[in-house]
Amino acid sequence: MPETATKTFTAYQLTKVGGKDYAPVEKSLERPHPHQVVIKMHAASLNFRDLLVCRGLYGKVPLPLVPLSDGAGEVVEVGDRVRKFKVGDRVMATFMPAWLSGAPTADIGKSALGGFTDGVLQEYATFPESALVRVPDYLNYEEAATLPCAAVTVWNAMFEGYDFKPGQTVLTLGTGGVSIFALQLAKAAGARVIATSSSDDKIAKLKKLGADHTINYKTTPNWDEAVMEMTGGKGVDLVIEVGGAGTIDRSVKSAKVGGHVALIGVLSQPETPFNVINVLMKSVAVQGVFVGSREMFEDMNKALELHKIKPLVDKVFQASEIVQALEYMESGKHFGKIVLKF
Ligand SMILES: NC(=O)c1ccc[n+]([C@@H]2O[C@H](COP(=O)([O-])OP(=O)(O)OC[C@H]3O[C@@H](n4cnc5c(N)ncnc54)[C@H](OP(=O)(O)O)[C@@H]3O)[C@@H](O)[C@H]2O)c1
Repeated sequence: MPETATKTFTAYQLTKVGGKDYAPVEKSLERPHPHQVVIKMHAASLNFRDLLVCRGLYGKVPLPLVPLSDGAGEVVEVGDRVRKFKVGDRVMATFMPAWLSGAPTADIGKSALGGFTDGVLQEYATFPESALVRVPDYLNYEEAATLPCAAVTVWNAMFEGYDFKPGQTVLTLGTGGVSIFALQLAKAAGARVIATSSSDDKIAKLKKLGADHTINYKTTPNWDEAVMEMTGGKGVDLVIEVGGAGTIDRSVKSAKVGGHVALIGVLSQPETPFNVINVLMKSVAVQGVFVGSREMFEDMNKALELHKIKPLVDKVFQASEIVQALEYMESGKHFGKIVLKF
């Protein structure tokens, strides 16, 4: 008997923006259309973006909305025309189901899960087979659930938007999900990594993960100068820039002449206006990055599998503890990824 027969399940919905207004609702599981796959979700993970969504800072999201883009689960039923997946397969949904390959187009963003369409914080979810990627065998569901947004973004920033070469120096900022993946991928690819954090305890962990140089950006507020010293006055080849308006100025100053800043995040606000003159006088390329395509996700998984890179799961909550999980993210205590399990 198919899983969908007479089944109801719990989904969590964001009911209004501004606070953390999530409510469990009961839904009926529908039979899949010919090209659809039904997944029993096992785990989901948080991104800073999920805080932006609930605070109402991610554009006008449709409400009620099933939140979260990142999840992993098991295929429990497939439509008649599905060829790529079968019952029992372990899969992850892509962040933007409409972006399969190639360069981004104007409308891919509208398909972003947990933003403009329902996401993965639900016990079952149905997706077109084109929106799914296989979980690498060596990862469990909780680890796999961390990949679709943060890790794919780093892959895009380093290997698609930028032509990274072994031996180059990469600067990472802080110890959130994106930056820890950046450290792990950059080390696996043969980079020298300079990593920052506001905490000495986290800096000790960064060193264990292989950071070549570290800077406490709280006790060294002029961290760009420290980066220049560490690189013999030259600057880094690539900055994985997650701070946004509050850090872009120092990130550009940290880059070498002709260097590259992959602009990914919006974690901080500026104390002084951004001085664009450094961008042009240093001929720095500043490139916006918006996650990545399914093809990039699959390419990245080959590299993860080869190097057996383990996503760093900091803490696991129950799916029903979405508010506590978001509060934990807000506290900034985490190192790597925060996961919810079903
Ligand atoms: N463009 C895209 O496609 C894309 C994809 C994924 C994420 N993002 C964005 O990238 C950013 C990071 O996302 P995330 O999910 O990795 O966030 P996260 O896990 O919440 O990262 C939080 C960590 O960032 C560090 N941080 C905060 N303010 C900082 C500052 N002023 N300077 C340096 N580090 C700072 C802190 O590390 P310490 O505690 O070590 O100081 C903090 O713990 C967010 O703005 C998110 O929206 C964008």
